[in-house]
Amino acid sequence: MTTTTFAEEILAGLRSSPKQLSSKWFYDEVGDKLFQAIMAMPEYYLTDAEREIFQSAGPELLAAIGGRPFDLIELGAGDGSKTQYLIEQFLAAKSDFVYRPIDISAHAISILGELIKTRWPLLPFQPIQNDYFSALDRLGSSGGDRLRLVLFPGANIGNFSPEEARGFLRHLRGFLRPGDLVLIGFDLKKDPEIILAAYNDPAGHTAAFNLNLLERINRELGADFKSDNWRHWETYNPRTGAARSFLVAEGAQTVEIADLEETIVFEPYEAIAVEISQKYSRNEISELAEASGFELLDNLEDEKGWFADSLWRVGE
Ligand SMILES: C[S@@+](CC[C@H](N)C(=O)[O-])C[C@H]1O[C@@H](n2cnc3c(N)ncnc32)[C@H](O)[C@@H]1O
Repeated sequence: MTTTTFAEEILAGLRSSPKQLSSKWFYDEVGDKLFQAIMAMPEYYLTDAEREIFQSAGPELLAAIGGRPFDLIELGAGDGSKTQYLIEQFLAAKSDFVYRPIDISAHAISILGELIKTRWPLLPFQPIQNDYFSALDRLGSSGGDRLRLVLFPGANIGNFSPEEARGFLRHLRGFLRPGDLVLIGFDLKKDPEIILAAYNDPAGHTAAFNLNLLERINRELGADFKSDNWRHWETYNPRTGAARSFLVAEGAQTVEIADLEETIVFEPYEAIAVEISQKYSRNEISELAEASGFELLDNLEDEKGWFADSLWRVGE
């Protein structure tokens, strides 16, 4: 990912009204480490739920794959800490596959590479460091006629609004062939208290993670955000299913972005929208599969019914 893209998107987001920044920019080396702390905290139930699902998903995925050689394409792979359970089961079944993780964070790709080199040095590993869209375009029709199994775990789909998710999945559908499979992690609608706590932990890991975006802008673009003057604010709307993170200016502020020769003025309590984490009902998952041209095969859920990895296929 080039600095130009980062600079251009940050500038456009801070100039827009209301101000907004994409959560994909959370993940630099510092952000990746802070996200690992989030995954380890008790309030962030998503990780444990999806790990539980992945630990027993192998047989069902292998049955859907049906013994064919495949490309395991993972969108937003992060540190691969859950995906390793799937890889283990695929290798135990002597599957013939190439692991092709995609992540915008160069640091995430490098720690994932270390994990693979240490655990499975012989596993064919072809990572792509880029945005989902550009990476899919780069993959194009590579991989010959091998089946594609696309993993989109971690409820990353929730970082798109429902309309954007439909658009993205249609785009993904266009790049797949009949018989190809996708496994998408959805965070299910549940008690609003449980959802809010996952993004509003008392230890302040989520606040530090979100504030790192301002510090990243300071580091990479020479800005002078003072993160002590900003507050992390989370909301959850049980009707729309959208959890939203904001950074709120405590008092009027003027921020210089030296490298871009730009000055941004914030009014007291002006908020920058930095993340959506969309929650879904089971019906909404079925509707999304249909609207984006997939056949839903099964929802794999954790015991509590808090999270679903939904297995879809491109119809023949
Ligand atoms: C919430 S983390 C989840 C990581 C991992 N999938 C998991 O479930 O533990 C999101 C990951 O997706 C990556 N990511 C976010 N937006 C992205 C985008 N637009 N294109 C590519 N990668 C992206 C981030 O760098 C990060 O590693």
